[in-house]
Amino acid sequence: VNIAVLGSGKGSNFLSIAKAVSMGELPARICVVVSDNPEALIIKKANELGIPTAVLPCGKYKTWLEPWIEEELVRILKEYHTELVVLAGFMRVLKETFLNAFEGRTVNIHPSLLPAFKGKEAWKAALEACVAETGCTIHWVSKEVDGGKIIAQSRVPILPGDTPESLHARIQQAEHELYPKVLKDLCLDWIKKYAK
Ligand code: GRF
Repeated sequence: VNIAVLGSGKGSNFLSIAKAVSMGELPARICVVVSDNPEALIIKKANELGIPTAVLPCGKYKTWLEPWIEEELVRILKEYHTELVVLAGFMRVLKETFLNAFEGRTVNIHPSLLPAFKGKEAWKAALEACVAETGCTIHWVSKEVDGGKIIAQSRVPILPGDTPESLHARIQQAEHELYPKVLKDLCLDWIKKYAK
């Protein structure tokens, strides 16, 4: 299964997926890594691994991509024969032009137990709300931000003395375990459905 990974940041989830692919634990190939940020570490890491990369024009807005940029994104994904799109810290909300092409084939990971704590820096929100546990969620991407159908979740305790950083690090550990496992299941389903 051809997987495209989209990210804006440090790319630790991307690395956990790339590792699972190289260990033969995930029946997939990362066909391209796409970012909206030319400086993002995820691009550097993909280049080091010899995986094709593409950087999108940044456009006028910070939190979403204008339709012509989404068209460009769709064009790139199709050029690399993408079958499944994996968002791993991609900081732009994806809208109609993208969703028309890839809804039902795009997943995201969010650092909370959705539907709790949607939006940015969800680990901080969980800490401030003094809940006993938080976690991470993998879900299908739909037009409702952080609102698509949930595929899997992993729970993470909040411990006395936690700072936003320590809690985020614990959530990320859980993400790095959960994402490759869930992608494996999705790829196996995909192969069953579409492979001849
Ligand atoms: C993760 O914590 C993920 O939940 C959120 O963005 C972060 C990406 O981290 N959507 P990385 O770039 O994979 O290290």
